[in-house]
Amino acid sequence: MTLYRYLFVIGIFLFSSLLASSGNYSISIGERDKDRLLVLNEIYNPFTEEFFVKSKLACGQEVLEIGCGIGLVSQKLAGIVGEKGSILATDIAKEQLDIAGSLLEKNTPQLTFRMLSACDLGVLGEKFDVVYVRFLLCHLPNPRAVIQEVKKVLKPGGKFIIEDLTGNHTLFSTPVTRGMEILHYFDELQFQLQESDDKYFAKLPQMLIEEGFNLDLLHKSHPKLDCLRTRKMLPYNLYTLKNSLMDAGLINHEEYVTMYKEVEAFSKDLSIDVFSYELGQICATYRPDCIEE
Ligand SMILES: C[S@@+](CC[C@H](N)C(=O)[O-])C[C@H]1O[C@@H](n2cnc3c(N)ncnc32)[C@H](O)[C@@H]1O
Repeated sequence: MTLYRYLFVIGIFLFSSLLASSGNYSISIGERDKDRLLVLNEIYNPFTEEFFVKSKLACGQEVLEIGCGIGLVSQKLAGIVGEKGSILATDIAKEQLDIAGSLLEKNTPQLTFRMLSACDLGVLGEKFDVVYVRFLLCHLPNPRAVIQEVKKVLKPGGKFIIEDLTGNHTLFSTPVTRGMEILHYFDELQFQLQESDDKYFAKLPQMLIEEGFNLDLLHKSHPKLDCLRTRKMLPYNLYTLKNSLMDAGLINHEEYVTMYKEVEAFSKDLSIDVFSYELGQICATYRPDCIEE
């Protein structure tokens, strides 16, 4: 093998392991996902804010957010820590961070956005009082690897706050409808593509304990989608998965159009009760001295 070919093979190997380690996030990013994230935030933000109070987030703290998306929670965090604190909000996708910057409502010098994978936190070389993540770990093939990265950037006694869905099928309707079956089908294909486990949250407490954390709070909430605005999340879910599923050959355009129409009609039928994904919340304190050998 010539030297050039050898270097090319090594390059491909390194590039693919880099991609593998950061996961294969399959939801659209940028403008295509903006409205979905806005609605998602309207559904879950009240629970998030309540949990921040219970977790005793306070003025002056230094917080790292991972997978911040379009920065909706980052802005809330900036308000909590104030100008004496700092928020470093990170995401793997520049498109998300560009929107985050454009959505800033006021001057917040304490908030900085940076492009960074949750799997590379060690490069930061600094320590934080709090690391926060919402709706990311379920999309990654190896959440434990992220916990191990978080340990590199948390001060001893620092807090790791995690919010995530507890399983795809916690999104449900009564009665069960074809529209809901389509949504479950899309979710299944998505997690298959991502090689991630939608039910990993159940394993998270044990994982955190094994990695040297004490569990402070564990909470679950199950919001009902009882207005047309929040139910828009349902067709958005299909819309933002369309490109990945089509690129992978898992659906074709005609199938997508038919299924989208069914889900859209179902989402508008307020006679059917719909509950959104159950939200799991954990606040854990890092106690490196407590790890059993
Ligand atoms: C479902 S969105 C959640 C956004 C935000 N946390 C929220 O709750 O609105 C997940 C975000 O994680 C980002 N992401 C995906 N893989 C990532 C990785 N390996 N490291 C950091 N961010 C990642 C995506 O670009 C996306 O913005």
